[in-house]
Amino acid sequence: MNELRTRLRRLRRTEALRRLVRETRLSPEDFVYPLFVVHGSGVRNAIPSMPGQAQLSIDQLPAEARELRALGIPAVLLFGIPASKDEQASEAYAPDGIVQQAVRALKQADPALLVITDVCLCEYTSHGHCGIVRDGDVDNDATLPLLARTALSHAQAGAGMVAPSAMMDGQVAAIRQALDENGFAQTPIMAYAAKYASAFYGPFREAAESAPQFGDRRGYQMDPANVREALREIEADIAEGADIVMVKPALAYLDVLARARQRFDLPLAAYNVSGEYAMIKAAAANGWLDEKRVVLEVLTAIKRAGADIVITYHAKDAARWLKE
Ligand code: PBG
Repeated sequence: MNELRTRLRRLRRTEALRRLVRETRLSPEDFVYPLFVVHGSGVRNAIPSMPGQAQLSIDQLPAEARELRALGIPAVLLFGIPASKDEQASEAYAPDGIVQQAVRALKQADPALLVITDVCLCEYTSHGHCGIVRDGDVDNDATLPLLARTALSHAQAGAGMVAPSAMMDGQVAAIRQALDENGFAQTPIMAYAAKYASAFYGPFREAAESAPQFGDRRGYQMDPANVREALREIEADIAEGADIVMVKPALAYLDVLARARQRFDLPLAAYNVSGEYAMIKAAAANGWLDEKRVVLEVLTAIKRAGADIVITYHAKDAARWLKE
C-alpha cells in the first residue's frame, strides 16, 4: 500500500483544497446575455421553447439593465424583431429600427453596460435568409454593403461592439471599413467566425421569427463535420480585422473551441445556443436533471475548452448561483 506515492485523491478531500487547485473559474463577468427586442409597449412575450426567455419591448429594457448590473453581467447581445420584413431587410439599417432604439434605451439606462448587436439580415428579410436573395441563392457580394450599413447604424445608435453573424465572405472587412470611414475606428468587431449550420438554432428561430421560408442555411453556414475549415474561417476573420472570434454552437463543438484556443491568441467567444438551453430546461422541467449543477458544469466546460467569453441564456441564473 505504501508504495502508492501519487494519490490524486489527496487534493479532492475538502472544498478548500478543491477550490485551491481548480483550473477553471466561472464568473458572471464571463457572460453575455442575449435579448430579443420587439416593437410595442408593455410587451413580455414568453418564448415557449426557451422557458424563462421573452421578447421584450423597449420600455422593459431599463429594468433588464438594472438586473444585469446587480448580477455583475457586463454585456448584452441584441436581436430585433422588426415591424415588417422585406427583400432588402430595410429595418435592419433603419435609424429608428428596433435594435437601434433598443441600443439607445439601454445606453441611457446604464452607460456602463456593453451593448453588442447581432449584425445579420435574417430577422429582417421576408424570405428569412441572412442576405440578399438572387435566383434562389444568397448573393454574397450584394449582401456586404447592407451588413456594413447595418453595423454602422448600430454604432451610430451607440452600440459598443458589433457582431456579424451572416457568414458572408468578407463581411468583417466590409464592416471594418464602414466603421473606420465614419468615425467608429474604436468600435470592436466580435465575428461569428466559425458558425455551423446547426439544428440547435431551432428555438432561436421561433424567438427571433427568422426561420428561412425556403431551403436552409447550408450554403453559407458551416458543415458540422468540419474543423480545419473552422480554423480557416477564423483566420480569415482575423485577417479582415476581427477583434474577438466566436465558435457557435458551443457544446457539440468543444473540440473546435480547443483547437481555436491553441492556434489563435485573440479573445475567444462561444455561443451556448438556444437548443442547448432548451434541452436542459426541458429535462429539468421533467425532473430528469439537476438544472443548477448541469448548467454550471456545461458553462465551466465551455470555458475549460478555451472560451474567454460565454454568450448564454443561462447567464442570469448562473450569475445568481455563482453568488450563493
Ligand atoms: C442570426 C443568428 C442565429 C443565431 C444567432 N444569430 C440564427 C441562425 O443563424 O439561424 C442563433 C442563436 C441561438 O440559437 O441561440 N443569423
